[in-house]
Amino acid sequence: MRKYLVAGNWKMNGTLDEAVNLSEKLAEAVGDYTEVDILICPPAIDIPSVSFCIRNTQIKLGAQNMNANASGAFTGEISYNMLKPFCQYVILGHSERRQIFGEKDAMIAEKARAAVDNEITPIICIGETLEENEAGKTVEILRFQLEESLKTLTADDEIVIAYEPIWAIGTGKAATAETAQNVLAFIREHMKNKFGQVYADKLRILYGGSVKPSNAYDIMSQKDVDGVLVGGACLKSDDFKAIADAAIQAI
Ligand code: PGA
Repeated sequence: MRKYLVAGNWKMNGTLDEAVNLSEKLAEAVGDYTEVDILICPPAIDIPSVSFCIRNTQIKLGAQNMNANASGAFTGEISYNMLKPFCQYVILGHSERRQIFGEKDAMIAEKARAAVDNEITPIICIGETLEENEAGKTVEILRFQLEESLKTLTADDEIVIAYEPIWAIGTGKAATAETAQNVLAFIREHMKNKFGQVYADKLRILYGGSVKPSNAYDIMSQKDVDGVLVGGACLKSDDFKAIADAAIQAI
């Protein structure tokens, strides 16, 4: 059975004090959860401090981005070697990275390869814009992103895929549970054709985009939904706990 993953993407929010405060609250609230995997992805600069705050808990730590190179002249970037001592996961190809910073699928594919080679599980984000959605192009866009951003990977590589429709991110307007299920079923089928049934059965696929305590259970009780990637609601420990509880309920 696939273990649910409840992941929080803090994005570029909070000061060091706030990061410490939130991690201490989360350590208290969900630190001993073992039925589902709990993951937090703070801003890179806070990773060592947060790592210290959650050291005696089950909470896993991830980064929001990563460079595909080990080291070198890449001003402002962070390599897997720097993340490795702290992080089990890294979010790659988030729509904000794609849209604001111009990340292309080929770059995401390289990063995914580097992450897997360094025992950091990549959470690869895919999703369509509102315009593409309204034009009925969702499947076409996702198929392309799956092909291109997973190009460097094989059936031996453990990854997580997050479906994050861009129109649902930060808008308060989540996909319905039914839509999430339909799209995630398509992704699983695509991955079955690519890497085989065993791989598809083990693959964790998340939904992300305006997940909150009030819709988390409905979304996660769908057959192909193995967890959520949470933005806004993960900055409040009570909300993140409620979403983690919804995941346990949905098992
Ligand atoms: P949101 O963000 O929950 O604030 O919509 C989701 C995400 O960007 O991962």
